[in-house]
Amino acid sequence: MIEIKDRVRNAALQAKITTADAAAALIKPGMNIGASGFTPAGYPKAVPMALAARMKENPFKINLWTGASVGKELDGALAEVDGVAQRLPYQTNDPMRKKLNSGQMNYLDLHLSHVAQMSRYGYLGGEVDIAIVEACAITEDGHIVPTTSLGNSASFVQSAKQVIVEINVTQPLELEGMHDVYIPMDPPNRQPVMITKVDDRIGTTYIPCDPSKIVAIVACDIKDDVRPLAEIDDDAKAMSSHLIEFLQNEIKMGRMPKNLLPLQSGVGSVANAVVTGLVNSPFSNLTVFTEVIQDGMLDLIDAGKLEFASGTSLTPSPDGLKRLYANIAEYRKKIVLRPQEIANSPETARRLGIIAMNTAIEFDIYGHVNSTHIMGSKMMNGIGGSGDFARNGKLTFFFTSSIAKKGDISSIVPMCSHIDHTEHDVDVFVTERGIADVRGLSPKQRAQVIIDKCAHPTYQPMLQDYFDRACKATGNAHTPHIMEEALSWHARFLQTGSMKK
Ligand code: COA
Repeated sequence: MIEIKDRVRNAALQAKITTADAAAALIKPGMNIGASGFTPAGYPKAVPMALAARMKENPFKINLWTGASVGKELDGALAEVDGVAQRLPYQTNDPMRKKLNSGQMNYLDLHLSHVAQMSRYGYLGGEVDIAIVEACAITEDGHIVPTTSLGNSASFVQSAKQVIVEINVTQPLELEGMHDVYIPMDPPNRQPVMITKVDDRIGTTYIPCDPSKIVAIVACDIKDDVRPLAEIDDDAKAMSSHLIEFLQNEIKMGRMPKNLLPLQSGVGSVANAVVTGLVNSPFSNLTVFTEVIQDGMLDLIDAGKLEFASGTSLTPSPDGLKRLYANIAEYRKKIVLRPQEIANSPETARRLGIIAMNTAIEFDIYGHVNSTHIMGSKMMNGIGGSGDFARNGKLTFFFTSSIAKKGDISSIVPMCSHIDHTEHDVDVFVTERGIADVRGLSPKQRAQVIIDKCAHPTYQPMLQDYFDRACKATGNAHTPHIMEEALSWHARFLQTGSMKK
């Protein structure tokens, strides 16, 4: 029996302590469940596993809304028993990915800053019936102290009819104080988000909760399912050094202060490698205004290069998590976790003038970006926060290796097979081959720079040939395309296993 009474500081609420099975029994078929969790951090584990066991015996489905991706104990467990009818707004779980790509689940891929307000506006198909939130503790007044992520938890708790709290004893109590919870009012009453510096605090350190809504409190001792990051490969190192050189030039040109502007960095191995590369860069006194705080950010703090980081989740690798917990008192001074509608707020990103750095699956010669779909049809993860930041950054980068699948795929194509970020949202493209600065360029000028600087030599002549013929065929139209050919590279890959001719 895991002891959690000392973490439930409201004496009356101690009566609500119960088992995961009893809490899961409160969840009924068809309910909208708003769960905590953002990347595999701070998501409930014991109650979802009990729910999955119940669904295995008596199959039924719920709708699952979270902050972003969550770990295997929630997404994996429910996908395996076919327990999810509707999932939003982001996932990275293999069984879940299979379900949503085979017609067995409705998946809504949403800008992460939009989700909380969409649920409050009633756009998602009803209200939150039950919020399930992982917590470090419950305060004397019955408020909830979150753990390694904030995501949409505060808004879900505010709107939910009932709340289940999962107290996770593996989460250190020192996390208390790291959060800054602010839920905006909805139009016409919304006020400006009063953040003008990354370390500004505008809210409470807990999720405000009416204690009468808490129907169950459950103990859990399962750690966040954080995953090791991939080795930093030569491509990522090359992209990182292109970025550093580029930013040095921006400083020289007077377009960027010496300590840069707040950095936003996307998820995945490439993004982490790029941030890690900054450790050995000449930049110091850096700040971060991002979504996910990964190992690279901890490296920057350890190197004395990072003044402050604002995010919505702490998702280091297993080694990074050990490092974080061992020195949490120090890291706490330099990190704040906010609800994702604030961490990813377009208003704030625009005001702070962030440097937005995200990863693409592919981009096309005119500068459109696909972050989500493989060969036009299969969902990989989702747009995540990339759109929140890309459109609103002062300087917006997209990174990708110039080829994928051992060279059978060119990540630079004539036309993207799906578009998440348009030509209007991106300033600079980076591959291991080089960097294409497309600011101030027309579509045809952009195409030439992207082909010259970013494409792999195998595909460079093919792209040039397509572009030249498209210009000729359309009489040098504004954005030349040959309609029968624009997606022929993808079609060829699907037919032959390679985009090569
Ligand atoms: N065509 C087809 N597949 C491609 C591809 C392309 N052009 N480029 C990459 N891939 C495949 C890789 O082969 C790999 O497949 P695998 O899992 O079968 O090995 C997979 O896509 C992931 O690629 P990887 O190089 O490991 O990249 P990553 O871990 O850096 O992730 C994204 C890249 C785009 C999938 C990831 O960054 C993402 O989901 N982004 C969208 C959300 C986002 O940007 N969030 C951050 C906002 S703050």
